[in-house]
Amino acid sequence: MAIKVGTVFNYLQLPNVSKFAFVINKRQDGTFIQKGLFVYTKSSEGFLIGIIEEIVLLNEYFTDALTIKAFNNNDNPNILKGLFPSEDFEFAIAVVKCLGLIKFRDKDMKEIERVQRMSYPASPGKGVYIVEEDILNKFLGFDIKFGLNLGQVKVTNSEALINMNRLLNKHFAILSISGGGKSYLTSVLIEELLTRNKDFGTPSIILLDVHGEYLYLKDIPEFKDKVKIQDISYFQIGIPKLSAYSFKKYQEQISTVQLRELSKYIKKLRKERIKKNQYTLNDIIEEIENESDGNKSTKQALIGWLSELERLFLFGSQENPSLDKVVNNQEITIFNFQKEISIRKKQIIVDYICYRLFDLRRKNNIPPFLLVVEEAHQFCPEAAHSKALSKPIIEMLAREGRKFMACLCLISQRPKKLSTTALSQCNSKLVLNIKNPYDLKHLMDSSEAITKEYASMISSLGVGEMLLMGNAVNYPVFIDVRKRRYKSKSEEISLAQFCLNWQKKELK
Ligand SMILES: Nc1ncnc2c1ncn2[C@@H]1O[C@H](COP(=O)(O)OP(=O)(O)OP(=O)(O)O)[C@@H](O)[C@H]1O
Ligand SMILES: [Mg+2]
Repeated sequence: MAIKVGTVFNYLQLPNVSKFAFVINKRQDGTFIQKGLFVYTKSSEGFLIGIIEEIVLLNEYFTDALTIKAFNNNDNPNILKGLFPSEDFEFAIAVVKCLGLIKFRDKDMKEIERVQRMSYPASPGKGVYIVEEDILNKFLGFDIKFGLNLGQVKVTNSEALINMNRLLNKHFAILSISGGGKSYLTSVLIEELLTRNKDFGTPSIILLDVHGEYLYLKDIPEFKDKVKIQDISYFQIGIPKLSAYSFKKYQEQISTVQLRELSKYIKKLRKERIKKNQYTLNDIIEEIENESDGNKSTKQALIGWLSELERLFLFGSQENPSLDKVVNNQEITIFNFQKEISIRKKQIIVDYICYRLFDLRRKNNIPPFLLVVEEAHQFCPEAAHSKALSKPIIEMLAREGRKFMACLCLISQRPKKLSTTALSQCNSKLVLNIKNPYDLKHLMDSSEAITKEYASMISSLGVGEMLLMGNAVNYPVFIDVRKRRYKSKSEEISLAQFCLNWQKKELK
């Protein structure tokens, strides 16, 4: 039974095609009419669904300053109340933003056939009803059976069951100020993906964990076989996997002539080695040193570049870990960057991981994956002068990954500093609180769905409240992110407790 909450009426210039107003029924049986509630009315075109955008309280009695004076001056307001029941003059008006027209497949109004744009206003005098939960779920594009439960839809409190295919088919971004709840939301998403019924099909997750915030996942017994941690301290780039031209990424100043020389040595090594594809940077350096021919200064310069790379302790004869082995369906591999402070080294590693994963996926050597990049503005910055080594590959993944079922999740506290190319390819956006006007503007520039109204709502969101918009849902929807099922130990310790527990480490 549909709950009637009011009646459409003429208020200011409304109703028009995109908005209508209704007078809220005085006595609602337990239903509290709030901003954000989804309602519908029957217009001459069909079922018109909308969301309450504003609530206005009107009291004709108090529009006149003289009455207010009389009301306030009277020693005994009850006398005046008896004479003139001002409370009866108060009524509440809701202004509704129209979202679409629902065409039902059946008479019982259970199955939605399609949602159309409206072209005619609501009819004054018609009843307004609350949209029932199952219709709302279908209208928003939720997946009741297999969806990822990220929390509850605001106001209606129904579960936000996000369709995984729709979220991961195109890339997405998680954005907010520092402490807005991005990592928390990411953990919720990971929980949902890892606990999803294995018969539903779930991609592999690769997470670039800059601060070691996700290591606690390893200690959860339910995830024992699904979580793998890879410490970056042991990360090695396989030199045989690199062509001469990929060295240009690491050493920008290498000239074309030097590169041509380098490629000669690499070719030679590849032919010579008994154990093919097992050579290191030092082998290349040796090869150059042993070569009697060739321009001396080119050779010297090459040795210089390569030796500088060798000092990064990042390159070896084989890649470690083997990236084709770490990507498995419904498993997560966390690359822990916590101990690494050099931004250059971090970027080199991120670049290599992205490049290899994309290549392996293109050849279909690994299953579809979701690559989560924390602090994405460090690896794919907007500013040209930042010259992040990993920027081109992340932008390429953003542009082309979708075709190969390689999904990217970019997380950032500074959307303005994040590459517009990458951000605009993130079709779905999970936006928590953002206060900075420059960040909001950048977000509006990169996504037409973010209007001024949404921007102002985003700036007033609390911790754990998000706006989900884009491909994952049919209409932008506000969600209260659910609590994590599993907690990290560090999360439970307060600052005061940490201070009490802290002891200076003995220097050896
Ligand atoms: N949905 C939520 N429910 C309860 N607590 C939350 C929720 N979201 C975030 N928090 C709390 O807010 C704090 C900050 O969250 P989180 O670490 O996820 O922020 P962040 O956006 O990742 O910040 P940073 O940009 O600095 O990494 C955490 O202590 C977390 O416990
Ligand atoms: Mg975080």
